[in-house]
Amino acid sequence: MSTRAAGIVASQVILKNNSVLGLATGSTPEGMYRELVKLNQERTVDFSGVITFNLDEYIGLPPGHPQSYHHYMHHHFFNHINVAPQNIHIPQGQAGNMAETCLEYDQKIADAGGIDLQVLGIGANGHIGFNEPHTYLKMQTHLIDLTEETVEANSRFFDTAEEVPRQAVTMGMGSIMQARRILLLASGKNKAPAIKETVSGKITTAVPASFLQLHREVILILDKEAASLMMELDQRFHIPGLWHRDVS
Ligand code: F6R
Repeated sequence: MSTRAAGIVASQVILKNNSVLGLATGSTPEGMYRELVKLNQERTVDFSGVITFNLDEYIGLPPGHPQSYHHYMHHHFFNHINVAPQNIHIPQGQAGNMAETCLEYDQKIADAGGIDLQVLGIGANGHIGFNEPHTYLKMQTHLIDLTEETVEANSRFFDTAEEVPRQAVTMGMGSIMQARRILLLASGKNKAPAIKETVSGKITTAVPASFLQLHREVILILDKEAASLMMELDQRFHIPGLWHRDVS
């Protein structure tokens, strides 16, 4: 999965050296970043012209906190590649004026010309970025209360329950849906229901990833477990051909 995903990101950057990449954190893309670091170090891919925008950040964690997404991105990726520091953008989880900072973040994405390739993971509850299931979704970058399910899922990275952040700042559905291409990665059985709903369920704010059905170019890279319910479905009816499916 990681090699395939890294290959797609690398070819995007090789074809357009000033690509704008939307990036995700979490366990799923760690291997992809490892592969991209190798490709950069062996000079197959040059990140010097690339501009990056991360999807999200926890509220309340300083950038140096080992569980902050700032730290994650530098630790797994940015510290090891030749990206220009001024081209890295990660939402601020400790901004004084959150509303203004969110507006500025969207403006920077627009000024960069929008996102060429957006890498996504998916929550077991169908969240993308931290756009959580709700009665409505937001277009712009915004502050969000994490659901109990997400707080619980994230608690594996923290020593005590009290430390787990309950809020995050996330890119909204707008910047994600406006990305020219989307690369969604998922592995493990616990992601199978969310993947099934994403691919063939109703388009609903209860499963934010289901909106990806409206996108022109989504590449799914799944392991067999995450794809298991989708493959059952596939035997019964045809899943829209616009989706590139790559089950390894
Ligand atoms: C992270 C993000 C989240 C994760 C999702 C899956 O930047 O936006 O949507 O992609 O929570 O996380 P993992 O990969 O840890 O299962």
